[in-house]
Amino acid sequence: MTEKILILDFGSQYTQLIARRIRELQIYAEIVPYNKEIVLDDNIKAIILSGSPFSVKEEKALHIALDTIAGKKPILGICYGAQYMANYFGGKVERSQKREYGKANLADFQQEDPFLRGISPGSQVWMSHGDTIVALPEQFELLAGTASIPVAAFRSKSGAFDQPMYGIQFHPEVTHSLEGLKLLSNFAVDIVGCKGNWTPGSFINQIVGELKEQIGGEKVLMALSGGVDSTVGAALLQKAVGDQLHCFFVDNGLLRKDEYANVLESYKGMGFNITGVDARELFWNALKGVSDPEQKRKIIGKAFIDVFEENAARFKGEGIQWLGQGTIYPDVIESVSVHGPSVTIKSHHNVGGLPEKLKMKIVEPLRMLFKDEVRKVGRAMQLPEHILNRHPFPGPGLAIRILGDITPEKVTMLQEADAIFINNLKKYNLYEKVWQAGTVLLPIRSVGVMGDERTYEQTVALRAVNSMDGMTAEWSRLPYDFLAQVSSEIINNVKGINRVVYDISTKPPSTIEWE
Ligand code: XMP
Repeated sequence: MTEKILILDFGSQYTQLIARRIRELQIYAEIVPYNKEIVLDDNIKAIILSGSPFSVKEEKALHIALDTIAGKKPILGICYGAQYMANYFGGKVERSQKREYGKANLADFQQEDPFLRGISPGSQVWMSHGDTIVALPEQFELLAGTASIPVAAFRSKSGAFDQPMYGIQFHPEVTHSLEGLKLLSNFAVDIVGCKGNWTPGSFINQIVGELKEQIGGEKVLMALSGGVDSTVGAALLQKAVGDQLHCFFVDNGLLRKDEYANVLESYKGMGFNITGVDARELFWNALKGVSDPEQKRKIIGKAFIDVFEENAARFKGEGIQWLGQGTIYPDVIESVSVHGPSVTIKSHHNVGGLPEKLKMKIVEPLRMLFKDEVRKVGRAMQLPEHILNRHPFPGPGLAIRILGDITPEKVTMLQEADAIFINNLKKYNLYEKVWQAGTVLLPIRSVGVMGDERTYEQTVALRAVNSMDGMTAEWSRLPYDFLAQVSSEIINNVKGINRVVYDISTKPPSTIEWE
């Protein structure tokens, strides 16, 4: 079994980052809400207590029975986690006069302690806290301070507990803590003794074994989108159960130019047992005359379910019991939401209700992986780079990039303009420097002049963003000459478009898509 580090989440904005850093050390880390009942089995090698937007001094503070885990596994408390530890065992934590936010330098530290071994004197760390530990409990000792706080790092005294406990006021998981990864490695590898053997290869072996066991001789159905997640998910399933996996890929009439043929071709090349379903008319008819973005999403979601059900029924005749899905870790992390249930800004199209209706069992090979890890697994399986490096593309496709109602003619016009933009990004080696790019067809006409003729035609907006995860985004600073080239190519070649604009809005307050 895989060794793992458990991260108890107290609602910090950085909790996911802690998991990612630990995983960079090739140690599997899993996030669970602070109050989830946990069974400390042998696979769990250590526990990390995350930060939190709360103060240990406030009434709303989140509590755990720390004495029930103390001494059972090594523990590292980060920020709130450290304060909680200090407070819990009888130390003193006070509200600071002013929130300490930003860079600080470790001072007077105990270089011989395994936690700080190899860390440079004055090492830069990142602080973000409102409380300060002013006195440590009796069973603990100081490891380091900074110029502004007395306790930046501490540990339990040797022999005070059966397993060591460490606490740090700063955030080793953010890159501004320059030796943060080294500190996490000192804890996880040197102190805890993790082997660090969780690699894409070991993940593949493990998951393929699990999938074989889970599915046995039964059959699996999976809808593929041409994107990274569903492709890697299907490749793992195929490796596990071979031709017991049946895939299909739907042309909803809202894909990019030639995408249907190209993706189907790639899938066939990968040996998938795949069926292409041309459902363009069904989607276009359902969308006829609809302009409202949320309405479009709902219609597309429903049309997809109809197509899916029809195909599932066909395959079900062959006795398919499983439904494969490309769900990834950020979708399943049960984080502590300090803001309550999140507000839906755009209702993302998914097939959540399907399995109950179809009475199928769900299999999700990627549910424990972050996006970049999915790519690494895909690479280790030698899947085509053009699929692994694809920009994200929304489920409702071009429907939410055609403002106003949708007609097949508008889809073709947008596909042509978009293909020019994307092909040029690839040609000028910009595609991989941009996180997502697309073209939006605007419902306005403006005057232009072409040759001797006055034109009165539509506008497209080019959108290219840099982002980590789509939650926030910065518009890409594409070179002017490149934009000029794309603009003139579109206006000269796509009938009906006489104007091209570039979207220079940041998310927030804008969003990436226009609808
Ligand atoms: P926004 O527009 O919300 O987009 O800034 C963030 C990311 O989500 C994608 N997106 C969607 N994906 N169904 C999807 O599967 C949708 O309805 C949808 N809306 C937006 C968008 O392309 C970007 O990557």
